[in-house]
Amino acid sequence: MSDVHDLFRLAADYAAQFHDTLDERPVGPRASYDELVEALGGPLADEGSVDADVVSELIAAAEPGLVGSQTGRYFGFVFGSALPASVAADWVASAWDQNGFSVVTSPAAAAAEEVAAGWLAELLGLPDGVSSGFVTGAQGANTTGLAAARQHVLAAAGWDVARDGLAGSPRIRVLAGGERHVTIDRSLRLLGLGSSALELVRADEQGRMRADALRDALAGSGGPAIVCAQAGNVNTGAVDPLGEIADACEAAGAWLHVDGAFGLWAAASPRLRHLTEGCERADSWATDAHKWLNVPYDCGVIFCRHPQSHGEAMAVAASYLQRADGRSPSDWVPESSRRARGFAVWAALRSLGRDGVADLVDRCCGHARAFADLLGAEPGVEILNDVVLNQVLVRFDDDDETTREVVGRVQADGTCWLGGTDWQGRAAMRISVSSFRTTSEDVERSAEAILTAARSAAAAVG
Ligand SMILES: Cc1ncc(COP(=O)(O)O)c(C=O)c1O
Repeated sequence: MSDVHDLFRLAADYAAQFHDTLDERPVGPRASYDELVEALGGPLADEGSVDADVVSELIAAAEPGLVGSQTGRYFGFVFGSALPASVAADWVASAWDQNGFSVVTSPAAAAAEEVAAGWLAELLGLPDGVSSGFVTGAQGANTTGLAAARQHVLAAAGWDVARDGLAGSPRIRVLAGGERHVTIDRSLRLLGLGSSALELVRADEQGRMRADALRDALAGSGGPAIVCAQAGNVNTGAVDPLGEIADACEAAGAWLHVDGAFGLWAAASPRLRHLTEGCERADSWATDAHKWLNVPYDCGVIFCRHPQSHGEAMAVAASYLQRADGRSPSDWVPESSRRARGFAVWAALRSLGRDGVADLVDRCCGHARAFADLLGAEPGVEILNDVVLNQVLVRFDDDDETTREVVGRVQADGTCWLGGTDWQGRAAMRISVSSFRTTSEDVERSAEAILTAARSAAAAVG
């Protein structure tokens, strides 16, 4: 057996054993950052080490610092786990070391992206003929979609921003809901539009942009305008009223971008599709595969109704960059050399099938409702949001200090992991159910741990 064979088997055996023991593993890290730096650090040796030793040392040093996002009891941020088929496909993609730049650098990577993007667009209910790009995540997808938007709305005003830049260009109005995701602001900074250019549109108590407020804000506006709507508020999971927002954008000739990092996946479920009604009328859509589709990091996707503007904003050409017929992935993203992300997405979709994706989304939302029922039945526990998707906001004794104390105690206990937030000026516990692994038993065990923490926190704070 070759050394490489043994090395790869070592990694695969370890990964399989890691997966087999997920249920017993802690969901939070056991080592501090400083301890991890020390374990991984020291001077770089002059001579290289044996590969198998390198991987074994890495596993031993890093494992205490892992977070349990592969477990069914990690409810932090909006994470999701990684489906076994997509993990294995990602390994194969690394073993192949394909550069997903173009059809020339890897016809296989380009073809996998093309097929996977087509399946995704169909699942998410997007129109035929959309262009698509695989990026690092929804941050990259928002930036790419808004770059296409900037190109398009300025071209309509007679200005080629790709050629002439923004200096002296017509002003673009950018409107977003008061509860937009913070990545929209960063995208605007990166695109030279500036976060202060953002006009905030009033949001309702669930964090949905108010369509009437948007209509008022757009009234009489004839120039270049971009509206950033949201499918899935990162705290409440609420989806903006996309149909009414699309009406307002259409009337004002504004570009409609939908940040659907996780909420757009409601469209893949026949039971929840109604939430995203109208999203098919947008001009660009950002989503993540590494959240609700449960593929390994990193993987977001941008879709655009206007391939020409999308390509003008992103594509590059040089004499040495030979072209060939077929998809050129880098025409649609801000990167050149890049990981072949399509393989893992292709594998996840093949592994789940259309029904499996719908079931994954439905199950997570069912678990979120179960959390709300189990926790909300306890005196002093308040569920702050309408649990329409996979997000639950919980407040304890209507008190900021107690609520933060409960979050800290749950994290220290280690049965499950979740984070805190502030929702409309009040501290809240934030539960996001995004993993294919989460079971009803995980929810019951976790809810019990949360309630135990709540009782002890109330005694300590109270
Ligand atoms: C609505 C929304 N947009 C954008 C993002 C950013 O996604 P990513 O971290 O994958 O870039 C998130 C992350 O949770 C999100 O919820």
